Amino acid sequence: MPGGVKTDVKTYQMYINGEWVASQSNKTFPVYDPSTEEVIAQVPDANAEDVNRAVASAKAAFEDGPWATTTAQERGRVLFRLADKIRQNTAMLAELEARNTGKPIVEAEYDIGDVATCFEYYGGLATKILGYVNPVPDNAMSLTLKEPIGVAGQIIPWNYPLLMGAWKLAPALAAGCTCVLKPAEQTPITALEMANWLADVGLPPGVVNIITGFGESCGAPLVQHPDVNKVAFTGSAAVGKIIVKMAADTVKRVTLELGGKSPNIFFADADFEAAIDGALFGVFINQGEVCSAGSRVLVQKPIYKKFVDAMVEKAKKIKLGAPLDRDTKMGPLVSKDQYDRVRSYQEVGKKEAKLASGGGRAEKFAKGYYVEPTIFYDVDNSARIAREEIFGPVATVIPFDDEKDAVKIANDSPYGLAAAVWTRDIFKAFRTVKAIRAGIVWINHMQPTYVEAPWGGYKQSGFGRELGPWGIEEYLETKQVHINLNEQPIGWY
Ligand code: NAI
Ligand code: MG
Repeated sequence: MPGGVKTDVKTYQMYINGEWVASQSNKTFPVYDPSTEEVIAQVPDANAEDVNRAVASAKAAFEDGPWATTTAQERGRVLFRLADKIRQNTAMLAELEARNTGKPIVEAEYDIGDVATCFEYYGGLATKILGYVNPVPDNAMSLTLKEPIGVAGQIIPWNYPLLMGAWKLAPALAAGCTCVLKPAEQTPITALEMANWLADVGLPPGVVNIITGFGESCGAPLVQHPDVNKVAFTGSAAVGKIIVKMAADTVKRVTLELGGKSPNIFFADADFEAAIDGALFGVFINQGEVCSAGSRVLVQKPIYKKFVDAMVEKAKKIKLGAPLDRDTKMGPLVSKDQYDRVRSYQEVGKKEAKLASGGGRAEKFAKGYYVEPTIFYDVDNSARIAREEIFGPVATVIPFDDEKDAVKIANDSPYGLAAAVWTRDIFKAFRTVKAIRAGIVWINHMQPTYVEAPWGGYKQSGFGRELGPWGIEEYLETKQVHINLNEQPIGWY
């Protein structure tokens, strides 16, 4: 019998102005282990009043607190110290992340390593925020100053909980902003654990506030709050659209990362074994709950039949199991809601295309939101399962004729987050890369993600970029400063 290790249900408070607090209503909500369906924690159910309190604390910290005069060097050191704490506590954080999301522990350990790396990267970048001297045609000096944007409202999803928190907090803090972070309601506990160290590493009260609550009652008031200067969101396209509308009233800066329906394109000349591996890894890693999942597998016709057969054969060997089992390669989906959503797409797929493998719940588990790795083939790109983000282990395999056909199908999507192309022909590879409308394109690989490189989408996958120097730009304002070097009157009047 699989299942998480049973421990006592812990009741958390949330972190506002450097203090642990309950919600003002005193209400809490349960957090689950999706492999056992048991409650593992209770967290505060924050509403608009709590949002007001958190934003007021972030605003005060930005305007009047010691953070306002903390040097870039010291901000960098704070982030390095936080990274150290995270590395020292990798085992604890990875275990919590695996229990709460359902992801395999080995993957959770990679995630926590990436969290620390992200804080280290932006710790280094804090001292490299540079301005310019602008060559204006006058006896004057024109400068460009980069300044923190202010209070950042940050709303994150449940698929990579602490990592999505780091992607948002690290650049904001390096830039000198203050933050109100709202984790997803399904997975708030690793962010709350991290809050235990924020004061120790040198963050003054109010610089980072972590509030736990639901989208409409807690996320929406955060987006609408007039004292929030910027909103960073990762999640569904549906909510992304609502956020843009809500942010309009106060003309907030917004960045959105909204997932996609990313094509993973296999030309007939690709290395076959590597290709099969890449097709499965692209769509099944993290149970397919990945914004950049290669959920449309485009395969050139000469290898199509053999490709589908090989995918099926290898997919059958994927070891589903308890998240904390080190041999597990696929755990349960994060929640009952996500399970229901993915199960319904499996049924839609059976009507729209041919089922090659999987297609249902993984019945060997008595409990837990386990679904079978599922492969549909002969999928038409107009099918719902080829157009809508499923966010689960469901691959749609689509045949294509030639390069032109592949690009046409790849780009025929409302989304444009990521893509991959597999071929040994460097000319074909680059032509395809240039023709694809997506923010991230891999050649002969899919999914490697580095804090040094930009992350974000084209089209309805969102706008703005996270990570690298691009990520910090989104937390900076640009100020023009003009210094007159003429001491005489202008002499105009
Ligand atoms: P969601 O978009 O509803 O939730 C993401 C975050 O937004 C959570 O923190 C949630 O509390 C918050 N939120 C929800 N409604 C809000 C509102 N009205 N105002 C402000 N914040 C709000 O995603 P959900 O419902 O968990 O998953 C639905 C689908 O979204 C998935 O099946 C998947 O297709 C997609 N998704 C994409 C992600 C990505 O990485 N791009 C991550 C998570 C989900
Ligand atoms: Mg939702």
